[in-house]
Amino acid sequence: MKETLALIAQASSIQASKGSVATYIPELAKADPEAFGLAVTECDGTQYLSGNCEFRFTLQSISKVVTLALALEERGKDNVFSAVGNSPTADPFNSIMRLEMDAPHRPHNPLINSGAIVVVSLLPEEGREGKIEAILDMARDLMANGDIKVNDRVYRSEKNTSDRNRSLAYFLRSVGSLKGDIEDILDVYFRQCSMEVNAKDLSILGATFACDGLNPITGKQVISPQTARIVRAIMTTCGMYDGSGEFAVNVGIPAKSGVGGGIMASVPGRMGIGVVSPPLDQRGNSVAGLAALAAISEQLHCRVL
Ligand code: DON
Repeated sequence: MKETLALIAQASSIQASKGSVATYIPELAKADPEAFGLAVTECDGTQYLSGNCEFRFTLQSISKVVTLALALEERGKDNVFSAVGNSPTADPFNSIMRLEMDAPHRPHNPLINSGAIVVVSLLPEEGREGKIEAILDMARDLMANGDIKVNDRVYRSEKNTSDRNRSLAYFLRSVGSLKGDIEDILDVYFRQCSMEVNAKDLSILGATFACDGLNPITGKQVISPQTARIVRAIMTTCGMYDGSGEFAVNVGIPAKSGVGGGIMASVPGRMGIGVVSPPLDQRGNSVAGLAALAAISEQLHCRVL
């Protein structure tokens, strides 16, 4: 296993030169394009690390599954899926178009930016501090890492360049699909996206979803089996945005990407996989991360779809 992963890491990391590091959040443009980390956590707690698993990066959109899990636990499935849909889109993650075109003008799913902003608004905690603390606690429990924090520079950088997310939020409010204090909701969203992790943390996140909500490192049942199953289902259909169909065909594992270069994958009943390499394709998915997951799916027989 260790050797197989090392060979996969070596072969896929060189694919990074085909992608480009995200620049629309200025702080992300500083990421090392050559950094590459690959980690696997199995449901019995065994871990395999390859490449640079100390390399730290921000969760970005991978944080959306943390907040979704929290909202499902705290508000229940029916409340969450009456505020956001559960169907994929063929549009980019920050697209505004369908919100206006398609009645009832609510986000198509919780993993595109508009949907994730609405999910933050559903959290019952008071104010921005209450909500981000609850998200951080959930992230720490899911990843068995009490030290997970917000990277302040990335948070401020995103907040200062957030015209697109801001316009999504204000549009949602204008059609009655977003309620609450918009500035609080956006602030929490920017902070959740800026939670900093490494590939090992990501693999534990994937493993906790894979093990029906039981964190294999701490032995704690963090979320219900039903929440874990719903999150895996939404990752399968929407986790890689407009690349979700292609990813289902080529890789066949529930997964979630982020523009920090991370991808978290969850093989039900077996393992979580965390991979990071900052250069992205046109859809915002890590090029070398996609290559690594395709190879793992094939060589370790991980396909579940
Ligand atoms: O809101 C944004 O645009 C970012 N904070 C997150 C986007 C993202 O990670 C898309 N994923 N590939």
